Amino acid sequence: QFERDSLDLLCDLATRIRRIAKSRDGMKFLSDLLCHKRAMLYFSQPSSRTFLSFYAACQILGMRVAEVRDTSISSEMKGETPTDSVRTFGSYFDMIIMRTPWQGFVEEMAWMLSNTERPLPIINAGSGKDQHPTQALLDIYTLQRSFEKNGGLENKHVVFCGDLKRGRTVRSLSRLLTYYPNIRQTFAAPEALQIGQDILDQLDAAGVNYDVTTDFKATIPDADAIYMTRVQSEWDNPDGEKPKYNWADYSFTAADLLVLKRTGVILHPLPRRQELDPACDNDPRAVYWRQMRNGMWIRCALIANIFGREQEITHYYMMNLK
Ligand code: CP
Repeated sequence: QFERDSLDLLCDLATRIRRIAKSRDGMKFLSDLLCHKRAMLYFSQPSSRTFLSFYAACQILGMRVAEVRDTSISSEMKGETPTDSVRTFGSYFDMIIMRTPWQGFVEEMAWMLSNTERPLPIINAGSGKDQHPTQALLDIYTLQRSFEKNGGLENKHVVFCGDLKRGRTVRSLSRLLTYYPNIRQTFAAPEALQIGQDILDQLDAAGVNYDVTTDFKATIPDADAIYMTRVQSEWDNPDGEKPKYNWADYSFTAADLLVLKRTGVILHPLPRRQELDPACDNDPRAVYWRQMRNGMWIRCALIANIFGREQEITHYYMMNLK
């Protein structure tokens, strides 16, 4: 649902909210904005960052929040369908934020809720192996901030590495990057975990320059941004064969910092496993902790935008911080 204009608007709004939130008066202003709204966080898959940053974003904007993270204590245990559960939440709340293991379910629920007597917004906080759109928003915001003093995000080379087949963050980000001119995308993964043909078809249709390779280490010197991802072993078939590859070939280590451009950046949606060496954490080019915190600000901006509060925020910003 986002294109370049709306991405720019959200990133600007996130920056304004971030700056407003630095003062006590600013926090008070923000916490009055949506104090009459309630949000439901429905996460039927594990999450730390997405759940907590949405929770914090709702709190910053003054919303009251309820959560279902353990469906074993909901009426789904009595046989209620997830569709009926979502409709139930829709009766009590003004917005639903949901993470599910099922591809397409959030879109289906958004359509269903838009056709009820009480239409309300629904945010996809990660769906199956397919999409993680708000992660892509925070990734775009992080890339924009990282390249602010280095010509912007345009004309950059972004290298994705890891489990690209089952990593929904890469699928969502690859798409949003098509809205920026002359971004080259490289997908570095073992053959068994390579990016899906549907994403490459999308890039072909958008006229984007891309490469697909098994040689991650060879891509590092030319990269402006390296986007590491973990192996999504939760999707392995317990009775099936595990993908075979040498994980060290698809990891970023302190030695790789020596060949990364001085202006390059390393991102990771986190959580990480062995693919990203903690020895890189203190290098100024390692932006993944900042990226994680950016999630809270971009999610504040998204929620404020959904409820039409961007003008109020911009007015406060201009009057008090400009
Ligand atoms: N990046 C991300 O989605 O992290 P969580 O699974 O902890 O929410």
